[in-house]
Amino acid sequence: MKIYHLAAECYPIAKVGGLADVVGALPKYQVKAGLQAAVALPFYNRKWVQENQFDVVFRASNLFGGKRTEFEIWKERTDKLGFELYLIHIPGLLDRENIYSYPDENEQFMAYQLAFLDWINWSQQSPDIIHCHDHHSGLVPFLLQYSAPYARLANTPTVFTIHNGQYHGAFSWTKIKYLPEIDMNFAGLLDWGGGINPLASAVRCCSAYTTVSPSYMDELSWQSNGLEHLFQMERARGVGIVNGIDSQVWDPETDTMIAGNYSVKNINKKEVNKEALCKRFNLDSSLPLISFIGRLVNDKGADLLASAINRAINEHPGKVNFLVLGTGDPDTEEALIALEPHQPDNYRTFIGYNEELSHLIYAGSDFLLMPSRVEPCGLNQLYSLRYGTVPMVHRTGGLRDTVIDFGDEGGYGICFEQTNVDDICHSVNRAVELYADQSHLNLLRAKMMGLDFSWDRSAKEYIDLYERLINTI
Ligand code: ADP
Ligand code: GLC
Repeated sequence: MKIYHLAAECYPIAKVGGLADVVGALPKYQVKAGLQAAVALPFYNRKWVQENQFDVVFRASNLFGGKRTEFEIWKERTDKLGFELYLIHIPGLLDRENIYSYPDENEQFMAYQLAFLDWINWSQQSPDIIHCHDHHSGLVPFLLQYSAPYARLANTPTVFTIHNGQYHGAFSWTKIKYLPEIDMNFAGLLDWGGGINPLASAVRCCSAYTTVSPSYMDELSWQSNGLEHLFQMERARGVGIVNGIDSQVWDPETDTMIAGNYSVKNINKKEVNKEALCKRFNLDSSLPLISFIGRLVNDKGADLLASAINRAINEHPGKVNFLVLGTGDPDTEEALIALEPHQPDNYRTFIGYNEELSHLIYAGSDFLLMPSRVEPCGLNQLYSLRYGTVPMVHRTGGLRDTVIDFGDEGGYGICFEQTNVDDICHSVNRAVELYADQSHLNLLRAKMMGLDFSWDRSAKEYIDLYERLINTI
């Protein structure tokens, strides 16, 4: 079975968040399961691309917005990632360093999707499934069915996975000029609220859509930034499949980015990492360490961090430490930086993106705080479980599906009901109490580290879905 995954991010080439982790891992596990899984990514002028070898396997030009546009398909030479990686290179459009936030982002992602389809079509390929992730590839299901140049591929089943339903990639109908000839009888399938909405179009036109956790599928019906009605109508077609983790990359027993390796058999060695982390940030390692890693945006509850941390430290003077790693909204960054002089002994922040430091924080912290308002799946809590670090989570989306409160049967984490300062501080009280009972904490650590959130199970659920779709064409 030949699958193409289309996405804006893929670890380790280009990562902003969990989308990259999923697209860098799921295909690897699908290959292990006997599929021929490939990723077709926009070209990025980034370190990983500069340092690796590629072959140009296809070169052509198409008309994009009335302008002849050259494009090339680059294939990574060795398949070292465990799957075939293709980069879609379009000089002037897809050859930049950053992934998002260019003013011509809509044109970039349209050009990406069209070049992919032209390549597949002109090179006479017939993939069994095209698997699109988020709105950046959301026009593909529509184009395959309702655009004359791609008629040969019209019956190709498509899967559309929603990693984040808050972002739709919507743009004005004036940009229709960038799309190839489409059947105008079906143009309504592109529209939502008077604009072209790639996310809404993908949900309506794909063969099946998925979310990255079952609870998030339910939540989209009342929380999807204006698409609630669509998700209420389409609910029956959706499937929630919880993400897995790449247990080769995220393994405290072999991780080369942490200070000392450990496993469930010698959990006490986790301490080496806490020592190293606390030394690096000049924090007292005998106190419980609660960390946050993530994009500093309101969906993650990051706007509440500075006041919650300040209050929690004041409520437990000299008894608890906090560490924040993140980058995002300037106001939130500023508030987090401004707190440091007020809590000089018990709080540190590192503003920026640092993959290596994130591994050390997962390994070296006692607790990982995730007060997300919206969390379609969340990978941080899964990494923290694997590293024996207790997740403290708002019960929402994938956090609800993957973390059981330690007060409940079979539980191991700390859960709270609302994203607000009171609930966060209450969860800190529970963390501080739990830390005082080291034998209980160690039991929970062993339980967490014994859980299996690897991709094996979820990759199989996708394969079952692909098979169902292929058998119904
Ligand atoms: P999202 O995709 O919404 O950002 P996820 O929990 O799915 O959230 O995934 C976040 C991923 O990004 C994790 O791999 C996390 O470790 C990583 N990450 C987020 N912010 C940073 C940062 N500042 N430095 C390093 N890694 C980060
Ligand atoms: C998105 C979501 C996050 C999820 C990730 C990978 O970025 O915000 O919850 O884990 O995609 O699916």
